[in-house]
Amino acid sequence: MQPKNINKDNIMTLKPLWQLGFSTAIMMAISACSQEPAPASVAIPPTPASIPHTNHTMASSPEAASTPTSHTSQNDCEIALNGTDAMQFSLKQIEIPAHCTQATIHLSHTGKLPKTAMGHNVVITSQAHLRGVLSDGLQAGKEHEFVKPNDERVLAHSKLLGGGESDSITFDTALLKTEPYVFVCSFPGHSGPMRGTIVIQ
Ligand code: CO
Repeated sequence: MQPKNINKDNIMTLKPLWQLGFSTAIMMAISACSQEPAPASVAIPPTPASIPHTNHTMASSPEAASTPTSHTSQNDCEIALNGTDAMQFSLKQIEIPAHCTQATIHLSHTGKLPKTAMGHNVVITSQAHLRGVLSDGLQAGKEHEFVKPNDERVLAHSKLLGGGESDSITFDTALLKTEPYVFVCSFPGHSGPMRGTIVIQ
């Protein structure tokens, strides 16, 4: 049959071309590696870990030297987080300074909608447990504000808020240093847009 012959011809002519292209690419890669010496002039930037975290006023630049020296180490363990009527958190990532042994999240619902329609909470859990925490929270229902009671996977969670309300949670940061943690609103349908990562830095 004619179509079969055409297919066969195409395969047979394509294969050597493909092999040629492949081996040429390998030769080019090998020669590129052997001819180019490793760039010796690339400066390795200092990693954040190499900067002593107890030194808040490193005078390494004029800007750093001129910043006010009023100490804010008590406040920088506290994070303000807003939830809106547009089903959004104000942060996609919560950054907690490494020196904080505890951290506090102040959650404010800056919208006007009631919590039955646009409820917001903040639930802290590990990335690995997020799915289970959310599904069990959904099952727990509105009488438990969409968090399973005494859920050991939940490091901390706030009350469920409606517009104009606020709540604060304080939690130990030790576990946050052992695996990736997230914050999320467990109100039905909100966990997609209303979630973010927690970073210790
Ligand atoms: Co919400």
